[in-house]
Amino acid sequence: MKALDGIKIIDFTHVQAGPACTQLLAWFGADVIKVERPGSGDVTRNQLRDIPDADALYFTQLNSNKRSLTLDTKTKEGKEVLEKLIKVSDVMVENFGPGALDRMGFPWKRILELNPKMIMASVKGFSEGHHYEDLKVYENVAQCAGGAASTTGFWDGPPTVSGAALGDSNTGMHLAIGILTALRMRDKTGKGQKVAVSMQDACLNLCRVKLRDQLRLDRLGYLEEYPQYPHGKFTDVVPRGGNAGGGGQPGWVLKCKGWETDPNAYIYFTIQGHAWEPICDAIGKPEWKTDPAYTTAKARQPHIFDIFKTIEEFIKDKTKYEAVDIFRKFDIPCAPVLSMKEIANDPSLRKSGTIAEVDHKVRGKYLTVGSPIKFSDMTVEITGSPLLGEHTDEVLAELGYTPQQIAAMHETKAV
Ligand code: COA
Repeated sequence: MKALDGIKIIDFTHVQAGPACTQLLAWFGADVIKVERPGSGDVTRNQLRDIPDADALYFTQLNSNKRSLTLDTKTKEGKEVLEKLIKVSDVMVENFGPGALDRMGFPWKRILELNPKMIMASVKGFSEGHHYEDLKVYENVAQCAGGAASTTGFWDGPPTVSGAALGDSNTGMHLAIGILTALRMRDKTGKGQKVAVSMQDACLNLCRVKLRDQLRLDRLGYLEEYPQYPHGKFTDVVPRGGNAGGGGQPGWVLKCKGWETDPNAYIYFTIQGHAWEPICDAIGKPEWKTDPAYTTAKARQPHIFDIFKTIEEFIKDKTKYEAVDIFRKFDIPCAPVLSMKEIANDPSLRKSGTIAEVDHKVRGKYLTVGSPIKFSDMTVEITGSPLLGEHTDEVLAELGYTPQQIAAMHETKAV
Protein backbone atom coordinates (compact mmCIF):
# COMPACT_ATOMS: atom_id res chain seq x y z
CA MET A 1 0.00 0.00 0.00
CA LYS A 2 1.22 3.48 -0.86
CA ALA A 3 0.17 6.68 0.89
CA LEU A 4 -1.16 8.35 -2.27
CA ASP A 5 -2.90 5.31 -3.81
CA GLY A 6 -6.10 6.48 -5.49
CA ILE A 7 -4.92 10.06 -6.12
CA LYS A 8 -4.95 10.83 -9.85
CA ILE A 9 -2.72 13.64 -11.07
CA ILE A 10 -2.70 15.35 -14.45
CA ASP A 11 0.95 16.14 -14.92
CA PHE A 12 1.07 19.07 -17.29
CA THR A 13 4.66 19.85 -16.39
CA HIS A 14 7.90 20.08 -18.27
CA VAL A 15 11.64 20.66 -17.76
CA GLN A 16 12.48 20.32 -14.04
CA ALA A 17 10.47 22.30 -11.47
CA GLY A 18 7.09 20.72 -12.20
CA PRO A 19 8.33 17.20 -13.04
CA ALA A 20 10.32 17.04 -9.78
CA CYS A 21 7.10 17.70 -7.87
CA THR A 22 4.96 15.15 -9.68
CA GLN A 23 7.72 12.54 -9.61
CA LEU A 24 7.79 12.77 -5.83
CA LEU A 25 4.03 12.28 -5.66
CA ALA A 26 4.26 9.34 -8.07
CA TRP A 27 6.88 7.69 -5.84
CA PHE A 28 4.42 7.90 -2.99
CA GLY A 29 1.70 6.14 -4.96
CA ALA A 30 -0.22 8.77 -6.95
CA ASP A 31 -1.26 7.86 -10.50
CA VAL A 32 0.62 10.56 -12.37
CA ILE A 33 -0.37 10.96 -16.01
CA LYS A 34 2.13 13.08 -17.86
CA VAL A 35 0.40 14.95 -20.68
CA GLU A 36 2.79 15.66 -23.52
CA ARG A 37 2.61 17.13 -26.98
CA PRO A 38 2.39 14.40 -29.66
CA GLY A 39 5.61 13.91 -31.58
CA SER A 40 7.90 15.88 -29.29
CA GLY A 41 6.86 15.60 -25.65
CA ASP A 42 8.73 17.20 -22.77
CA VAL A 43 11.66 19.11 -24.21
CA THR A 44 14.05 17.31 -21.82
CA ARG A 45 13.48 14.01 -23.64
CA ASN A 46 15.79 15.45 -26.30
CA GLN A 47 18.07 17.68 -24.29
CA LEU A 48 21.67 16.61 -23.61
CA ARG A 49 21.18 13.11 -24.98
CA ASP A 50 23.97 10.65 -24.28
CA ILE A 51 22.45 7.84 -26.40
CA PRO A 52 21.16 9.02 -29.81
CA ASP A 53 17.68 7.43 -29.79
CA ALA A 54 16.99 7.11 -26.09
CA ASP A 55 15.26 9.62 -23.84
CA ALA A 56 17.88 11.85 -22.24
CA LEU A 57 18.85 11.31 -18.62
CA TYR A 58 17.49 14.79 -17.95
CA PHE A 59 14.05 13.34 -18.63
CA THR A 60 14.49 9.88 -17.12
CA GLN A 61 15.73 11.30 -13.81
CA LEU A 62 12.66 13.50 -13.34
CA ASN A 63 9.85 11.37 -14.65
CA SER A 64 10.07 7.95 -13.07
CA ASN A 65 6.93 6.15 -11.85
CA LYS A 66 4.70 8.16 -14.26
CA ARG A 67 2.48 7.27 -17.23
CA SER A 68 2.76 9.22 -20.49
CA LEU A 69 -0.26 10.38 -22.49
CA THR A 70 0.30 12.31 -25.69
CA LEU A 71 -2.39 14.87 -26.33
CA ASP A 72 -2.57 17.96 -28.49
CA THR A 73 -4.62 20.15 -26.23
CA LYS A 74 -5.00 22.77 -28.93
CA THR A 75 -7.22 20.47 -31.01
CA LYS A 76 -10.95 19.96 -30.38
CA GLU A 77 -10.50 16.24 -29.58
CA GLY A 78 -7.51 16.98 -27.34
CA LYS A 79 -9.53 19.51 -25.36
CA GLU A 80 -12.33 16.98 -24.95
CA VAL A 81 -9.93 14.38 -23.58
CA LEU A 82 -8.44 16.91 -21.19
CA GLU A 83 -11.92 17.86 -19.97
CA LYS A 84 -12.73 14.20 -19.27
CA LEU A 85 -9.44 13.81 -17.48
CA ILE A 86 -10.05 16.91 -15.35
CA LYS A 87 -13.42 15.50 -14.28
CA VAL A 88 -11.88 12.31 -12.89
CA SER A 89 -8.64 13.67 -11.45
CA ASP A 90 -7.73 15.07 -8.05
CA VAL A 91 -4.82 17.31 -8.92
CA MET A 92 -3.52 19.11 -11.99
CA VAL A 93 0.06 20.38 -11.93
CA GLU A 94 1.51 22.75 -14.52
CA ASN A 95 4.55 24.92 -15.00
CA PHE A 96 3.91 26.56 -18.34
CA GLY A 97 4.94 30.10 -19.10
CA PRO A 98 2.57 32.78 -17.72
CA GLY A 99 -0.91 32.66 -19.27
CA ALA A 100 -0.40 29.47 -21.31
CA LEU A 101 -3.22 27.57 -19.62
CA ASP A 102 -5.65 30.48 -20.14
CA ARG A 103 -4.68 30.65 -23.82
CA MET A 104 -5.27 26.90 -24.08
CA GLY A 105 -8.84 27.47 -22.88
CA PHE A 106 -8.41 26.12 -19.36
CA PRO A 107 -8.38 29.05 -16.93
CA TRP A 108 -8.90 28.20 -13.25
CA LYS A 109 -12.58 29.18 -13.48
CA ARG A 110 -13.18 26.60 -16.22
CA ILE A 111 -11.26 23.88 -14.38
CA LEU A 112 -13.33 24.52 -11.26
CA GLU A 113 -16.53 24.30 -13.30
CA LEU A 114 -15.43 20.92 -14.61
CA ASN A 115 -14.32 19.66 -11.20
CA PRO A 116 -15.02 21.66 -8.04
CA LYS A 117 -12.76 19.30 -6.08
CA MET A 118 -9.74 19.91 -8.29
CA ILE A 119 -6.47 21.03 -6.79
CA MET A 120 -4.73 23.13 -9.40
CA ALA A 121 -1.03 23.53 -8.69
CA SER A 122 1.29 25.88 -10.56
CA VAL A 123 4.92 26.86 -10.67
CA LYS A 124 5.79 30.23 -12.14
CA GLY A 125 8.98 32.25 -12.05
CA PHE A 126 7.42 35.06 -10.04
CA SER A 127 4.24 35.17 -7.97
CA GLU A 128 0.89 36.44 -9.20
CA GLY A 129 0.78 40.23 -9.15
CA HIS A 130 4.58 40.55 -8.98
CA HIS A 131 6.01 43.23 -11.25
CA TYR A 132 7.88 40.49 -13.11
CA GLU A 133 4.91 38.10 -13.30
CA ASP A 134 5.04 38.05 -17.11
CA LEU A 135 8.61 36.68 -17.21
CA LYS A 136 9.54 33.17 -18.23
CA VAL A 137 12.09 31.80 -15.82
CA TYR A 138 14.73 29.08 -15.64
CA GLU A 139 16.79 27.87 -12.68
CA ASN A 140 19.57 30.44 -12.61
CA VAL A 141 17.22 33.35 -13.17
CA ALA A 142 15.38 32.30 -10.03
CA GLN A 143 18.58 31.94 -8.05
CA CYS A 144 19.52 35.50 -9.02
CA ALA A 145 16.09 36.89 -8.17
CA GLY A 146 15.73 34.85 -4.97
CA GLY A 147 18.84 36.07 -3.14
CA ALA A 148 20.96 32.96 -3.68
CA ALA A 149 23.36 34.31 -6.30
CA SER A 150 24.17 37.60 -4.57
CA THR A 151 25.15 35.72 -1.42
CA THR A 152 27.00 32.78 -3.01
CA GLY A 153 30.62 32.72 -4.13
CA PHE A 154 33.67 34.69 -3.07
CA TRP A 155 33.77 38.38 -2.21
CA ASP A 156 36.21 39.16 -5.02
CA GLY A 157 34.19 37.29 -7.67
CA PRO A 158 30.82 37.80 -9.37
CA PRO A 159 27.46 36.59 -8.01
CA THR A 160 27.45 32.80 -8.33
CA VAL A 161 24.70 30.25 -8.77
CA SER A 162 24.64 27.00 -6.85
CA GLY A 163 24.87 23.60 -8.50
CA ALA A 164 21.86 22.58 -6.42
CA ALA A 165 18.55 23.22 -8.22
CA LEU A 166 17.26 25.81 -5.77
CA GLY A 167 15.03 27.35 -8.42
CA ASP A 168 13.75 24.17 -10.04
CA SER A 169 13.58 21.02 -7.92
CA ASN A 170 13.35 23.03 -4.72
CA THR A 171 10.28 24.84 -6.04
CA GLY A 172 8.82 21.48 -7.02
CA MET A 173 9.30 20.23 -3.46
CA HIS A 174 7.54 23.31 -2.09
CA LEU A 175 4.68 22.71 -4.51
CA ALA A 176 4.40 19.07 -3.41
CA ILE A 177 3.97 20.24 0.19
CA GLY A 178 1.30 22.69 -1.00
CA ILE A 179 -0.55 19.97 -2.90
CA LEU A 180 -0.54 17.58 0.05
CA THR A 181 -1.77 20.40 2.29
CA ALA A 182 -4.60 21.21 -0.14
CA LEU A 183 -5.55 17.52 -0.34
CA ARG A 184 -5.74 17.40 3.46
CA MET A 185 -7.91 20.52 3.44
CA ARG A 186 -10.14 19.04 0.76
CA ASP A 187 -10.73 16.06 3.05
CA LYS A 188 -12.24 18.56 5.49
CA THR A 189 -14.04 21.00 3.17
CA GLY A 190 -14.76 18.88 0.10
CA LYS A 191 -13.45 21.74 -2.05
CA GLY A 192 -10.52 22.09 -4.38
CA GLN A 193 -8.27 25.13 -4.57
CA LYS A 194 -5.39 26.74 -6.42
CA VAL A 195 -1.87 26.23 -5.07
CA ALA A 196 0.97 28.32 -6.43
CA VAL A 197 4.68 28.54 -5.74
CA SER A 198 7.00 30.94 -7.48
CA MET A 199 10.62 30.00 -8.08
CA GLN A 200 11.76 33.31 -6.63
CA ASP A 201 9.81 32.69 -3.41
CA ALA A 202 10.96 29.08 -3.02
CA CYS A 203 14.55 30.17 -3.48
CA LEU A 204 14.17 32.99 -0.99
CA ASN A 205 12.65 30.59 1.51
CA LEU A 206 15.98 28.76 1.50
CA CYS A 207 17.91 32.02 1.77
CA ARG A 208 16.16 33.27 4.89
CA VAL A 209 19.36 33.22 6.95
CA LYS A 210 20.81 35.70 4.48
CA LEU A 211 17.88 38.03 5.15
CA ARG A 212 18.64 37.52 8.85
CA ASP A 213 22.19 38.68 8.07
CA GLN A 214 20.95 41.72 6.17
CA LEU A 215 18.94 42.84 9.19
CA ARG A 216 21.90 42.27 11.52
CA LEU A 217 24.16 44.18 9.14
CA ASP A 218 21.69 47.08 9.01
CA ARG A 219 21.82 47.31 12.79
CA LEU A 220 25.48 46.51 13.52
CA GLY A 221 27.45 47.35 10.39
CA TYR A 222 29.36 44.07 10.53
CA LEU A 223 28.79 40.28 10.56
CA GLU A 224 31.21 38.58 12.85
CA GLU A 225 30.99 35.10 11.31
CA TYR A 226 31.91 36.29 7.80
CA PRO A 227 35.53 36.12 6.56
CA GLN A 228 35.40 39.91 6.09
CA TYR A 229 35.38 40.31 9.89
CA PRO A 230 37.34 41.93 11.48
CA HIS A 231 39.99 42.79 8.88
CA GLY A 232 37.95 43.45 5.73
CA LYS A 233 35.30 46.03 4.93
CA PHE A 234 31.52 45.64 4.95
CA THR A 235 29.22 47.66 2.69
CA ASP A 236 25.49 47.98 3.36
CA VAL A 237 24.58 44.66 1.71
CA VAL A 238 25.23 41.07 2.80
CA PRO A 239 28.54 40.09 1.21
CA ARG A 240 29.48 36.79 -0.37
CA GLY A 241 31.14 34.72 2.32
CA GLY A 242 32.97 32.05 0.31
CA ASN A 243 32.74 28.78 2.21
CA ALA A 244 32.14 30.29 5.63
CA GLY A 245 29.78 28.43 7.92
CA GLY A 246 26.63 30.49 8.21
CA GLY A 247 25.09 29.68 11.56
CA GLY A 248 27.59 30.96 14.09
CA GLN A 249 29.74 27.82 13.78
CA PRO A 250 32.81 28.89 11.79
CA GLY A 251 33.71 26.43 9.07
CA TRP A 252 35.77 26.23 5.91
CA VAL A 253 36.77 23.87 3.13
CA LEU A 254 40.24 22.53 3.92
CA LYS A 255 42.83 20.97 1.62
CA CYS A 256 43.78 17.34 2.08
CA LYS A 257 46.42 15.11 0.53
CA GLY A 258 46.30 15.30 -3.26
CA TRP A 259 44.45 18.62 -3.59
CA GLU A 260 46.99 19.81 -6.15
CA THR A 261 45.63 17.36 -8.72
CA ASP A 262 42.26 16.23 -7.35
CA PRO A 263 39.69 19.08 -7.40
CA ASN A 264 37.73 17.41 -4.61
CA ALA A 265 40.51 16.42 -2.19
CA TYR A 266 39.02 18.59 0.54
CA ILE A 267 36.94 18.25 3.67
CA TYR A 268 34.49 20.65 5.23
CA PHE A 269 35.51 21.35 8.81
CA THR A 270 33.28 23.02 11.37
CA ILE A 271 34.45 24.56 14.61
CA GLN A 272 31.49 23.92 16.84
CA GLY A 273 31.88 26.01 20.00
CA HIS A 274 31.63 23.19 22.51
CA ALA A 275 33.88 20.94 20.41
CA TRP A 276 36.85 23.27 20.74
CA GLU A 277 38.73 21.13 23.24
CA PRO A 278 38.32 17.90 21.21
CA ILE A 279 39.55 19.84 18.14
CA CYS A 280 42.70 20.88 20.03
CA ASP A 281 43.26 17.25 21.03
CA ALA A 282 42.58 15.97 17.52
CA ILE A 283 45.10 18.27 15.84
CA GLY A 284 47.76 17.98 18.55
CA LYS A 285 47.40 21.49 19.97
CA PRO A 286 46.46 20.82 23.63
CA GLU A 287 47.99 24.17 24.66
CA TRP A 288 45.17 26.00 22.80
CA LYS A 289 42.68 24.60 25.31
CA THR A 290 43.79 27.06 27.97
CA ASP A 291 45.24 29.89 25.86
CA PRO A 292 42.90 32.92 26.22
CA ALA A 293 43.53 33.76 22.54
CA TYR A 294 41.64 30.56 21.65
CA THR A 295 39.27 29.59 24.42
CA THR A 296 36.17 31.49 23.22
CA ALA A 297 34.59 31.81 19.80
CA LYS A 298 35.01 35.59 20.01
CA ALA A 299 38.71 35.27 20.82
CA ARG A 300 39.23 32.81 17.95
CA GLN A 301 37.40 34.77 15.28
CA PRO A 302 40.12 37.36 14.48
CA HIS A 303 42.58 34.58 13.67
CA ILE A 304 40.16 31.91 12.49
CA PHE A 305 42.01 31.52 9.18
CA ASP A 306 45.29 30.85 10.99
CA ILE A 307 43.45 28.13 12.91
CA PHE A 308 42.15 26.63 9.66
CA LYS A 309 45.71 26.77 8.26
CA THR A 310 46.99 24.83 11.28
CA ILE A 311 44.31 22.17 10.74
CA GLU A 312 45.26 22.01 7.06
CA GLU A 313 48.89 21.48 8.07
CA PHE A 314 47.74 18.57 10.25
CA ILE A 315 45.79 16.88 7.43
CA LYS A 316 48.09 17.64 4.51
CA ASP A 317 49.42 14.06 4.46
CA LYS A 318 45.97 12.50 4.96
CA THR A 319 43.31 11.77 2.36
CA LYS A 320 39.91 13.37 2.91
CA TYR A 321 38.58 10.02 4.11
CA GLU A 322 41.46 9.55 6.56
CA ALA A 323 40.99 13.08 7.88
CA VAL A 324 37.27 12.54 8.47
CA ASP A 325 37.99 9.19 10.15
CA ILE A 326 40.23 10.99 12.63
CA PHE A 327 37.87 13.89 13.31
CA ARG A 328 34.72 11.78 13.64
CA LYS A 329 36.28 10.15 16.72
CA PHE A 330 36.34 13.59 18.33
CA ASP A 331 32.70 14.32 17.43
CA ILE A 332 33.68 17.13 15.07
CA PRO A 333 31.06 17.97 12.39
CA CYS A 334 32.89 17.39 9.11
CA ALA A 335 32.61 15.50 5.81
CA PRO A 336 34.66 14.79 2.71
CA VAL A 337 33.84 16.88 -0.37
CA LEU A 338 32.34 14.18 -2.61
CA SER A 339 32.40 14.22 -6.38
CA MET A 340 29.36 13.04 -8.34
CA LYS A 341 31.37 9.96 -9.33
CA GLU A 342 31.96 9.09 -5.69
CA ILE A 343 28.30 9.70 -4.87
CA ALA A 344 27.15 7.46 -7.74
CA ASN A 345 29.23 4.61 -6.34
CA ASP A 346 28.66 5.23 -2.65
CA PRO A 347 27.63 1.91 -1.03
CA SER A 348 25.61 3.60 1.72
CA LEU A 349 23.59 5.68 -0.75
CA ARG A 350 22.95 2.58 -2.84
CA LYS A 351 21.89 0.60 0.21
CA SER A 352 19.43 3.25 1.37
CA GLY A 353 17.95 3.65 -2.12
CA THR A 354 18.93 7.29 -2.36
CA ILE A 355 20.95 6.26 -5.40
CA ALA A 356 18.78 3.80 -7.30
CA GLU A 357 19.30 1.72 -10.43
CA VAL A 358 16.17 1.36 -12.54
CA ASP A 359 15.21 -0.23 -15.85
CA HIS A 360 14.30 1.69 -18.96
CA LYS A 361 12.81 0.08 -22.04
CA VAL A 362 15.28 1.68 -24.45
CA ARG A 363 18.37 2.68 -22.53
CA GLY A 364 18.52 -0.33 -20.19
CA LYS A 365 19.55 0.26 -16.60
CA TYR A 366 20.22 3.80 -15.45
CA LEU A 367 21.09 5.45 -12.18
CA THR A 368 18.87 8.02 -10.61
CA VAL A 369 18.39 9.78 -7.31
CA GLY A 370 15.74 7.90 -5.38
CA SER A 371 13.54 9.21 -2.61
CA PRO A 372 15.42 11.20 -0.01
CA ILE A 373 12.39 10.75 2.24
CA LYS A 374 12.30 7.42 4.09
CA PHE A 375 9.24 5.90 5.76
CA SER A 376 9.07 3.17 8.36
CA ASP A 377 5.82 1.81 6.96
CA MET A 378 6.05 2.40 3.22
CA THR A 379 8.62 1.26 0.69
CA VAL A 380 9.30 3.64 -2.16
CA GLU A 381 10.04 1.75 -5.38
CA ILE A 382 11.48 3.68 -8.29
CA THR A 383 10.40 2.52 -11.74
CA GLY A 384 11.71 3.69 -15.12
CA SER A 385 10.34 6.76 -16.87
CA PRO A 386 7.68 6.19 -19.58
CA LEU A 387 8.33 6.36 -23.30
CA LEU A 388 6.55 9.17 -25.12
CA GLY A 389 2.87 8.24 -25.34
CA GLU A 390 3.49 4.79 -23.86
CA HIS A 391 0.20 4.87 -21.98
CA THR A 392 -1.94 6.93 -24.38
CA ASP A 393 -4.28 4.13 -25.43
CA GLU A 394 -4.49 2.77 -21.90
CA VAL A 395 -5.49 6.15 -20.43
CA LEU A 396 -7.97 6.87 -23.24
CA ALA A 397 -9.59 3.46 -22.69
CA GLU A 398 -9.88 4.22 -18.99
CA LEU A 399 -11.69 7.42 -19.95
CA GLY A 400 -14.22 5.36 -21.91
CA TYR A 401 -12.96 5.79 -25.49
CA THR A 402 -13.52 2.83 -27.82
CA PRO A 403 -10.66 1.35 -29.88
CA GLN A 404 -12.18 2.95 -32.99
CA GLN A 405 -12.31 6.38 -31.40
CA ILE A 406 -8.72 5.98 -30.19
CA ALA A 407 -7.57 4.96 -33.68
CA ALA A 408 -9.32 8.02 -35.13
CA MET A 409 -7.52 10.28 -32.69
CA HIS A 410 -4.18 8.79 -33.70
CA GLU A 411 -5.17 9.37 -37.33
CA THR A 412 -5.79 13.09 -36.79
CA LYS A 413 -2.69 13.39 -34.58
CA ALA A 414 -4.75 14.65 -31.65
CA VAL A 415 -2.87 12.09 -29.54
N1 COA B 1 -0.65 20.39 -26.57
C1 COA B 1 -0.67 21.58 -27.19
N2 COA B 1 0.03 22.63 -26.76
C2 COA B 1 0.79 22.47 -25.66
C3 COA B 1 0.85 21.26 -24.97
C4 COA B 1 0.08 20.18 -25.47
N3 COA B 1 0.09 18.99 -24.87
N4 COA B 1 1.68 21.41 -23.93
C5 COA B 1 2.12 22.66 -23.97
N5 COA B 1 1.60 23.32 -25.01
C6 COA B 1 1.81 24.69 -25.41
C7 COA B 1 1.22 25.68 -24.43
O1 COA B 1 -0.13 25.83 -24.60
C8 COA B 1 2.04 26.92 -24.74
O2 COA B 1 1.55 27.50 -25.94
P1 COA B 1 1.28 29.11 -26.11
O3 COA B 1 2.49 29.79 -25.61
O4 COA B 1 1.05 29.21 -27.58
O5 COA B 1 0.09 29.46 -25.33
C9 COA B 1 3.40 26.29 -25.04
O6 COA B 1 3.18 24.96 -25.43
C10 COA B 1 4.30 26.19 -23.81
O7 COA B 1 4.75 27.40 -23.58
P2 COA B 1 5.80 27.66 -22.41
O8 COA B 1 5.51 26.90 -21.19
O9 COA B 1 5.82 29.14 -22.22
O10 COA B 1 7.14 27.06 -23.02
P3 COA B 1 8.53 27.73 -23.32
O11 COA B 1 9.39 26.65 -23.83
O12 COA B 1 8.43 28.93 -24.19
O13 COA B 1 9.07 28.22 -21.90
C11 COA B 1 9.65 27.92 -19.61
C12 COA B 1 9.62 27.31 -21.00
C13 COA B 1 10.15 26.85 -18.68
C14 COA B 1 10.61 29.11 -19.59
C15 COA B 1 8.24 28.39 -19.20
O14 COA B 1 7.37 27.29 -19.33
C16 COA B 1 8.15 28.96 -17.79
O15 COA B 1 8.57 30.08 -17.52
N6 COA B 1 7.53 28.20 -16.89
C17 COA B 1 7.28 28.63 -15.52
C18 COA B 1 8.50 28.58 -14.66
C19 COA B 1 9.20 27.28 -14.75
O16 COA B 1 8.64 26.26 -14.40
N7 COA B 1 10.45 27.32 -15.24
C20 COA B 1 11.21 26.14 -15.54
C21 COA B 1 11.69 25.49 -14.42
S1 COA B 1 12.55 24.02 -14.83
